[in-house]
Amino acid sequence: MIEEIQNKIQQVLSFSTNNIDELEKFRIDFIGKKGFVSHYFSEFKKVEPSKKKEYGLAINELKNVTLKKIEELKETLGTDVDKKVKDFDLTKPASMIELGSRHPISIIRDKIIDIFYKIGFNVSEGPEIEDDWHNFTALNLPMHHPARDMQDTFFIKKDPDLLLRTHTSSVQIRHMEENEPPIRTISPGRVYRNEDISARSHCFFHQIEGLYIDENVSFADLKQTLLYFTKELFGKSKIRLRPSYFPFTEPSAEVDIYWGLESETDYRITKGTGWLEIMGCGMIDPNVLDNCKIDSSKYSGFAFGMGIERIAMLLYQIEDIRILYDNDVRFINQFKDSI
Ligand code: PHE
Repeated sequence: MIEEIQNKIQQVLSFSTNNIDELEKFRIDFIGKKGFVSHYFSEFKKVEPSKKKEYGLAINELKNVTLKKIEELKETLGTDVDKKVKDFDLTKPASMIELGSRHPISIIRDKIIDIFYKIGFNVSEGPEIEDDWHNFTALNLPMHHPARDMQDTFFIKKDPDLLLRTHTSSVQIRHMEENEPPIRTISPGRVYRNEDISARSHCFFHQIEGLYIDENVSFADLKQTLLYFTKELFGKSKIRLRPSYFPFTEPSAEVDIYWGLESETDYRITKGTGWLEIMGCGMIDPNVLDNCKIDSSKYSGFAFGMGIERIAMLLYQIEDIRILYDNDVRFINQFKDSI
């Protein structure tokens, strides 16, 4: 029996491999639960008392040389990770990475920003939680003004009031307070209104508002800017301005574009008229300029504002506004090509 163990020791000493699986097999054969070492240990009781010591020393030696051998071979073979890298086939075609797509609201927002960027407008942003001054009072909507009701405001706190902004005109006030004319800026952002959610409206949506202030800015400048914009975004240049009312602009107008009546959808979305309302605009009321410490006897300007959802729905023929907020990837993935 001792001779057998001596043979095993020789076997271990001369063992060599460069294969990690073979090394693992070697480990199991020798020091695994049912390996040689535990087998010889279990035979210990059968050994004659006079041989016990020699036998015991031999098994211990077998165990030690095996452990040492495994350590040595492991080191030369490297770790599991190294092995995986060695097995890696660098010529294999890479697996496809799923590319995401931008949200239609972001796509339209960026398109509009681009169009105005080309004619010298910068982008301004402001907080979604606003105070009364920036959302109402500075915009020529003093306390108790009936036009405040038009805005269906979500109030957060009373006295002093904090609210969720109802339009990004608040950003324009902040921009006017911090900058001197000439001012050319557009303010994109999320706005909130306490309205019932339906296919056509939501309690939050996105706007882009524009502001232009300089000496001698006239209504003709506003009209020309709108024409340029509608041509760039919709490829349509027939527009009309209908008189309207906003507290912060005078005169004020609603902008319609001629969409056409070529398809059944055109009939439906324009209610058979061919015309579609896309935004509000007007010449900035001098009171607003004065509120922002801009000299209204020297400067004049125009402002306009539009809903991004409305435009996205028009351009992509989306029937229900709610689908824009569902975050269903099957919907969003359809816009991959529009980026
Ligand atoms: N702030 C207006 C709204 O939210 C839009 C607008 C902006 C109208 C600028 C005129 C001028 O409806």
